[in-house]
Amino acid sequence: MPPSQSMPPTPVLQTPRLALRPVRTKDAPVIQRRFPRWEVVRWLDAKIPWPYPADGAATYVAGCLEEMARGEKSHWAIIPKSGPADLIGVISLWPDDGISRSQRGFWLDPEFQGRGLMSEAAERVTAYAFNKLGWEHLWLTNAQDNHGSRRIKEKQGARLVDLLLGDYVEGRGSQMVWLLMQKDWAVRQAA
Ligand SMILES: CC(C)(COP(=O)(O)OP(=O)(O)OC[C@H]1O[C@@H](n2cnc3c(N)ncnc32)[C@H](O)[C@@H]1OP(=O)(O)O)[C@@H](O)C(=O)NCCC(=O)NCCS
Repeated sequence: MPPSQSMPPTPVLQTPRLALRPVRTKDAPVIQRRFPRWEVVRWLDAKIPWPYPADGAATYVAGCLEEMARGEKSHWAIIPKSGPADLIGVISLWPDDGISRSQRGFWLDPEFQGRGLMSEAAERVTAYAFNKLGWEHLWLTNAQDNHGSRRIKEKQGARLVDLLLGDYVEGRGSQMVWLLMQKDWAVRQAA
């Protein structure tokens, strides 16, 4: 994927239990309420400010909108169809820049974890990347201790290709680098 590739406008995507729609300015207060928990941030990128400032979500959402406007990334609010009406997490996708070996990020309010919801969101966004955008692969990463995130990669058919050191909110630790090939993912879909 050449670094110059840009993302089209972020579409609304549906799954059986979720609507995924572009993040918007009005999402900042609910993100400010749901996101700053240690179990959510500990294995996220060290660039995330911690302790989370009072304007953390507003700054984050403004950045998301700029990235989407520039065609650099897509950021979806995760909305459960059974309620509540506001977002319970975010999932993001961006093109391969040829360097960072990372193309997807996600988090979910702990109240909604452990129900298969992020597996469902990740599958839908992966289908969008492969079937709609025509990408041939996705680079994915997680902290080695982040078993939930790791399991989502395994279930999708990603191959572990590297083990590095990563800088997380909780400090430096092992980072797993995965490569999910469209062909491997499609075989799993067909099975
Ligand atoms: C990672 C995260 C998004 C997973 O969301 P989720 O909706 O709870 O995930 P799912 O329910 O779809 O579960 C995915 C798989 O991981 C497993 N899993 C989830 N949490 C787990 C945990 N703490 N330990 C071990 N396995 C776990 C599930 O059992 C499931 O596997 P299975 O289908 O074989 O049973 C969520 O834990 C989260 O938001 N964490 C904080 C943010 C974060 O770490 N983001 C990822 C950065 S790389």
